[in-house]
Amino acid sequence: MKYGYFDDLAKEYVVTTPLTPLPWINYLGNKDFFGLISHTAGGYCFCRDARLQRLTRFRYNNVPADGGGRCYYIKEKGKPAWSPAFLPCKTPLDAYVCRHGLGYSVFAGMRDGLAGELTCFVPLDDHCEIHRLSLSNQTESEKTLKLFSMIEWCLWDAVDDSQNFQRNLNIGEVEVEDNTIYHKTEYRERRNHYAFYGVNRPISGFDTSRDAFLGPYRGFDNPLAVDREQSRQSIAHGWYPIGSHQIDIVLAPGETTTIIYVLGYAQNESDDKWTAHDVINKTKAKAVLAKYESEESAEQALDRLKSYWTELLSKYQVKSSNEKIDRMVNIWNQYQCMVTFNLSRSASYFESGIGRGMGFRDSCQDLLGFVHLIPERARERILDLASIQFEDGSTYHQYQPLTKQGNHAIGSGFNDDPLWLIACTAAYIRETGDKSILFEEVPFDHKPGSEAPLFEHLRRSITYTENNRGPHGLPLIGRADWNDCLNLNCFSSEPGESFQTTSNFDSKIAESVFIAGMYVKYAAEYAELCERFGDAAEGKAMRQRAHSMEKIICEHGWDGAWFLRAYDAFGNRVGSQTCTEGQIYIEPQAMCVMAGVGLENGFAEKALNSVHEKLVTDFGVELLAPPYTAYRQELGEITSYPPGYKENGSIFCHNNPWFSIAETKRGRGNEAFAIYRNICPAYTEEKSDIHGTEPYVYSQTIGGRSGHSFGEAKNSWLTGTAAWSFVNISQAILGIMPDYDGLRIAPCLPDELSSYRVERVYRGCRYRITVERTNRSKPEIEVNGNLIEGNLIPAQTSATCDVRVRL
Ligand code: BGC
Ligand code: NOJ
Repeated sequence: MKYGYFDDLAKEYVVTTPLTPLPWINYLGNKDFFGLISHTAGGYCFCRDARLQRLTRFRYNNVPADGGGRCYYIKEKGKPAWSPAFLPCKTPLDAYVCRHGLGYSVFAGMRDGLAGELTCFVPLDDHCEIHRLSLSNQTESEKTLKLFSMIEWCLWDAVDDSQNFQRNLNIGEVEVEDNTIYHKTEYRERRNHYAFYGVNRPISGFDTSRDAFLGPYRGFDNPLAVDREQSRQSIAHGWYPIGSHQIDIVLAPGETTTIIYVLGYAQNESDDKWTAHDVINKTKAKAVLAKYESEESAEQALDRLKSYWTELLSKYQVKSSNEKIDRMVNIWNQYQCMVTFNLSRSASYFESGIGRGMGFRDSCQDLLGFVHLIPERARERILDLASIQFEDGSTYHQYQPLTKQGNHAIGSGFNDDPLWLIACTAAYIRETGDKSILFEEVPFDHKPGSEAPLFEHLRRSITYTENNRGPHGLPLIGRADWNDCLNLNCFSSEPGESFQTTSNFDSKIAESVFIAGMYVKYAAEYAELCERFGDAAEGKAMRQRAHSMEKIICEHGWDGAWFLRAYDAFGNRVGSQTCTEGQIYIEPQAMCVMAGVGLENGFAEKALNSVHEKLVTDFGVELLAPPYTAYRQELGEITSYPPGYKENGSIFCHNNPWFSIAETKRGRGNEAFAIYRNICPAYTEEKSDIHGTEPYVYSQTIGGRSGHSFGEAKNSWLTGTAAWSFVNISQAILGIMPDYDGLRIAPCLPDELSSYRVERVYRGCRYRITVERTNRSKPEIEVNGNLIEGNLIPAQTSATCDVRVRL
């Protein structure tokens, strides 16, 4: 069952009922200012950091879900108030759609012949949300109505805001000037920033005190001020500051009126904060308000946002006979890659914006799906990440977006982290050819004086893995590897203890076959960087070392029919036929085969076949089987989840593209595509009632077979699945891979795809590539009409290049 449809031409998903299984959200903003916005206009916004600079309040765990957000109330005398986005009023609408587009959302509601259309977006160059509300009277008679707006301010630090009430309820402060409400809590002391909510026409009332606006014991769905059709002109002193405007409107038959609201953030210099005692210097807010005063300027800003996205996405466009592939590749998958690049795992409807900042491994992997979009921003991110590496090569696990400093509370010791830095740096150079990044001086842990070239940071990543190995010569796992919940050195027995940071059993024994596979893959990548841009002898030595690790895997990391997952702190096997539960894990199978381990001795073949036999379902590939049915201290958080959930045997989507890519390594296009398809949103859309989450983006997990909700997805949006799925479909399946000297063409296709056309902008040249299946024994590639040897199209200096590929 579906709750909407894709409008590919408009690059939108159109939700046709407010009653979706969960709030279906979109993201506004591309760089510093972001809004999360649900299909009923719920959600919140923040500037740069979802914890420290949150503008509006959002209640996770709230009932009904998704209250608050951007509230607009339309009130005609004697009739119930209603909202064009359905919430907060919940008054039944005669018509409703929500169009989630790229960086904007439109809500069109209609009741009693009055149509309300609310368009929300963050313009490209300003720190604000624009809410454009058009009302049209579609009846034959005049309509007199009152329009109320309402947003609830968050007192900036979202953690304090949700817990430090003894202080919070005293500090709220606002100013009202003309049609604008200014939020200035803590501005009197150590903050130089304020928020504002203005509207481009005269108001007939306002409220800034939530209690005055709502009245006693009422919710956002039914405020007293709206009920009585009159704002209270309240000024908040402490308690709960809000921003609400009242506008009185008369609409002739057929008349439409458009109102522009701006909800923004501004920062002043510390010596230029005030215009009088306790009066904010509002120059910056006023400039933004003036800029969007006219309908035309708001319209132009929206048009510019749309063109920006069209241009950005044009870097990889496919036209095939499969519209689902096309819409994912051309629109939604790339869009999700931008969102995960921007937000890492910080703010979604499942990530509270207060916990994790930018994850090290997460951001490195997110870059793989983003680097072709805006390589300059990828470059900056790589250098930020390298700056939280320690001199021994290990890294902080996370950093805070506002300060860029490593997060001390979590620290380091996630032993896969360092190797991901090689993955993203290599991807960046393959995309851009910009080897200069390798020679950028970057500090260790931000320490002045510790700067070394990025190349040296990569060397330390490799050395860290080598220097931290266990009894079998396999890499030590530390607190965890990619699987955050396989905690082999944390023996936790107290509720509330962190599974990751309470490393009370630093065994120096627990080893990870997954990291070993990663090492083989990224040591080879590092070797290639050495051979091309550094010391060829070091490159050669590296290849040797990668080869030795491969031998160690085959000797100590092989379980007979698949790769082992790990050795625990006592040297026992994890992910083995000898285990009663957790016999096979997907990660080492997929990673080892992606690294090329076992392609020659048959292990790869066997490992992948075992995955098919044990882990593949119609909803995707499960992380492990059989799931753990009891908590086991020596394995950690993974066994804390009920069977079939999260790391304990759900379909953990992130690994699915790894497995699909591994299938392409053995040339199995049909299998690779089937794995791609099973978790692909454009396909799961059909099962939205079961799947539950947004049908246009990937989710982190889908309930596994042994759980009580097989097929139900959770944790949508912020997942490494986005980047890896894009790498999978664009590079491994459709086969257009950026390489150091040019584009390499190596498709691995399912039978259902016989031809397609890709436009790919690469290093300034637009490649127009057509691929046809002609059942040749050897692919034939023509570049601008000339047959070439091999499958590498050298980087071109021309503006366009025509490529014909016959397979
Ligand atoms: C989750 C993991 C996540 C980790 C982050 C765990 O509770 O299950 O998926 O990576 O927390 O700390
Ligand atoms: C989500 C985390 O963000 C990611 O870093 C981790 O690899 C997966 N969970 C698996 O545990």
